[in-house]
Order: sequence, then C-alpha cells, then structure tokens
Amino acid sequence: MTVRFGLLGAGRIGKVHAKAISGDAKAKLVAVADAMAPAAEAVAAQYGCAVRTIEAIEAAKDIDAVVICTPTDTHADLIERFARAGKAIFCEKPVDLSLQRVRDCLKVVETTGAKLMVGFNRRFDPHFKAVRDAIDAGRIGKVEMVTITSRDPGAPPIAYIKSSGGIFRDMTIHDFDMARFLLGEEIDSVMASAAVLVDPEIGKAGDYDSVSVILATKSGRQAVISNSRRATYGYDQRIEVHGSDGMAAAENQRPVSIEVAGAGGYTRPPLHDFFMTRYTEAYAAEIAAFIAAITEGAAISPDGRDGMIALALADAAVKSVKEGRAVRVSEVLA
Ligand SMILES: NC(=O)c1ccc[n+]([C@@H]2O[C@H](COP(=O)([O-])OP(=O)(O)OC[C@H]3O[C@@H](n4cnc5c(N)ncnc54)[C@H](O)[C@@H]3O)[C@@H](O)[C@H]2O)c1
Repeated sequence: MTVRFGLLGAGRIGKVHAKAISGDAKAKLVAVADAMAPAAEAVAAQYGCAVRTIEAIEAAKDIDAVVICTPTDTHADLIERFARAGKAIFCEKPVDLSLQRVRDCLKVVETTGAKLMVGFNRRFDPHFKAVRDAIDAGRIGKVEMVTITSRDPGAPPIAYIKSSGGIFRDMTIHDFDMARFLLGEEIDSVMASAAVLVDPEIGKAGDYDSVSVILATKSGRQAVISNSRRATYGYDQRIEVHGSDGMAAAENQRPVSIEVAGAGGYTRPPLHDFFMTRYTEAYAAEIAAFIAAITEGAAISPDGRDGMIALALADAAVKSVKEGRAVRVSEVLA
C-alpha cells in the first residue's frame, strides 16, 4: 500500500519532510498547503505535487495522512481537524505550548481513534538509536547517568523566538524526549538554570539562549542537558549514557569523516551545519516508522503522550528557573 500524503507548511522543516516523503517508496506526496503561496509552489515544483488549501486537503479522498509543519500555534487545531477528517497525522513538535490545550487535543485524538505521531526525530537517528540498542542489549548494564549536549549553530530569527514558547519548549524539548528515551524511567524532578549569553535581543524577547538542566528519576537516575543557541563550530549534538557495566556514546557527525595530521596537530572537517543535514536519516526513518504504523498497524512512537510529557518537562524547567528550585513533574502535570 502507498500512503498518500498532504504536507501542511512548506518552511524549514516542511521542506525536509517533503524530501523524506518523496524518497520513500511506500509514500506519495500528493499535495502541499502553505499560507505563503511561493513556499508551497516551490515544494510542488520540486517534488511534482499539487498546491491545495488546507480545507481541500482535509476534504480530499486521495490523501490518507498529513504532516503538520506549520508554526506551533496552529498544531493543536490542525490535529483536531484532521483527526475528525479521518486522516493519520504526523505533527511536528511541540503539539502546543499549553499543557491543557495538549490534553484537550489528545482527547479528540482518542475519541476519533486517529493515529498521531509527534516529530521527535532524534529517536530515529541511527547513532542515537544504536546507543539505545546497546542499552537494550544489556551492554552497559543498568543506566545511571545521561549527558546530552545540544547546541545550535545560531539562533532563529527573533520573530520565530517570540512565537516559539521559549528555548525550553522549542529546543530543549528534543533533549527532554531524548532523556526519557535513554533513561528508561519517567522523570520525577527538573532543576534548570538559564541565561542570555549570546544575543541581548533574545533576552528582550523574554527568552534565554543558554540553559542547563538536571533531570532526576524516582530511583535517582540523572540526565544533564546543556543547550546553547550558539556553536561557532557547527551543530553540536552529542549523547553519553553511563551505566553500571560501561558507557555508550554517540559523538558528533560530519558530512566528511576524515582526519588529517601534521606537525601542527590533527584536524577534521567541520560538523554538519544544522538539523536539515545532520538528521537527514532520522527524518527519513521517522516518516518510514509513521508509514509502517499506518500500513502494518505498528505501534506509534513517539505519540501524543510523549509530546505531552516533553512539554510538561519544559514547563517544569521554566518554573524551576523562575523559582530557583527543583520542580517535581507532578506539580505541572497534576
Ligand atoms: N523536529 C525538528 O527537527 C524541527 C525543526 C524545525 C522546526 N520544527 C517545528 O516545525 C514547526 C515549523 O517550524 P519551521 O522552522 O519549519 O517554521 P517556518 O517558519 O520555516 O515554516 C512554517 C511555514 O508554515 C507556513 N504557515 C504559517 N501559518 C500557516 C497556516 N496557518 N497554514 C498554512 N501554512 C502556514 C509559513 O508560511 C511557513 O512557510 C514548528 O512547530 C517547529 O517547532 C521541528
């Protein structure tokens, strides 16, 4: 069976998903919608699909599934609309910036029986997945400590920052999900520290650009997250998991993986420049997993609940910074 897709939003991540859908033999990109006609037309021209309105995609008999890549404040409404229209839904993170809104939205997903997958692409990165596979195979014993370093090469435009919900809900949310993915136990408390070290304009927009987070589970396992909106040396994405019998780590990836040595020392080519190139395989694999869930009835993961918990961890981090204390997840998820 070929899954016929409608793409909603043809911006930065929309273009990445258009490429992933078009590259999958079990998928067909039928139509794209965007509030800005040139954005939709560019994707339609590149991948040979139609430009349609969101309403037309909603009513279309020739579309089985949608990928929501519009700005965050449109996600929950679109999920509900397409759940009611009987389409399978892949939605970019976050589901919404309000936990209550996410809860209401997930109720609609539940009552309609719609399939909803949330775009935590890093779970599908082959290197990070191999770390998880090493854990599952018992190669490092019982997981004790996780370290996640995640630094963007540069900050997004201030207009994006203003509507993003802030660094914890927009950027750290990926790392909250990765921490859950690797710890194998739900997080109980969140302690966060945040500052503006990169760009004062980010501070004026009410956000931070440099944050550190310590997550702890009930049994005492810990995860440490380091985030910056600046990395002069490329897109810095590393994880390390320490266990009772060893350690598993995924280092930074490069488009070209060589090392050149001389009297002056060792040099290596630059890192990937950003998510579009670093996570190409992950985006393709998450779309493949979504297709498998539709065609083979495979379990959806990550799902709406994973999206909700990651948002709760972000809310707890915001509260922790404001109140200068560790915040129990139960305080925000109650
Ligand atoms: N998983 C990831 O790695 C990842 C990476 C980037 C962005 N995202 C998420 O994807 C979403 C989009 O981010 P982006 O960086 O691609 O933004 P973007 O601004 O580059 O693209 C958004 C697109 O949606 C269009 N749009 C806006 N309102 C619309 C509407 N009501 N109907 C139809 N189209 C509309 C815009 O014209 C634009 O082309 C955000 O929620 C963001 O958090 C996820």
